[in-house]
Amino acid sequence: MTGISKQSSTMMYLVALSILIMASSCRSCFFPPPPSPQPPPEDDLLEIQNYLNSHNTAREEVGVGPMEWNNTIYTYAQDYANQRKSDCLLQHSNTSYGENIFWGNGKEYTAVDAVKVWVDEKQWYHYEDNSCDSGKVC
Ligand SMILES: *[C@@H]1O[C@H](CO)[C@@H](O)[C@H](O)[C@H]1NC(C)=O
Ligand SMILES: *[C@@H]1O[C@H](CO)[C@@H](O)[C@H](O)[C@H]1NC(C)=O
Repeated sequence: MTGISKQSSTMMYLVALSILIMASSCRSCFFPPPPSPQPPPEDDLLEIQNYLNSHNTAREEVGVGPMEWNNTIYTYAQDYANQRKSDCLLQHSNTSYGENIFWGNGKEYTAVDAVKVWVDEKQWYHYEDNSCDSGKVC
């Protein structure tokens, strides 16, 4: 990778969109106040729909309910992605939101590409004890 391309910045943004809601009982203990919710840019709506569709197809296959867009979480994700833009670290935010992170270079990636990588990780995942094969990340 040669510097931070617009593409990788875009990817970090897409990646952060994957933030999922986790238990939030101690949210205020370690989480700075989130930015006020904003809608996504109009230009991103098709990509967002593709992203939701690919997630929800995978979720349906394992009997999990669909994801819906949430501007509060989107705005948080964008804010965190902006913090990671300059270093591209695959670093979790350690907040009450869980995250899937994807990083790629050398070609143009879509949000659906990122979802495919995450879904492929299920081959190493064990639902029974919520664990992952040794040396793997799921
Ligand atoms: C969006 O997510 C926030 C943070 O988890 C939650 O408080 C809010 O109820 C959600 N909004 C909708 C419409 O589900
Ligand atoms: C989250 O926690 C990990 C492990 O302690 C740490 O390496 C990482 O820097 C933390 N992320 C942030 C954004 O502080």
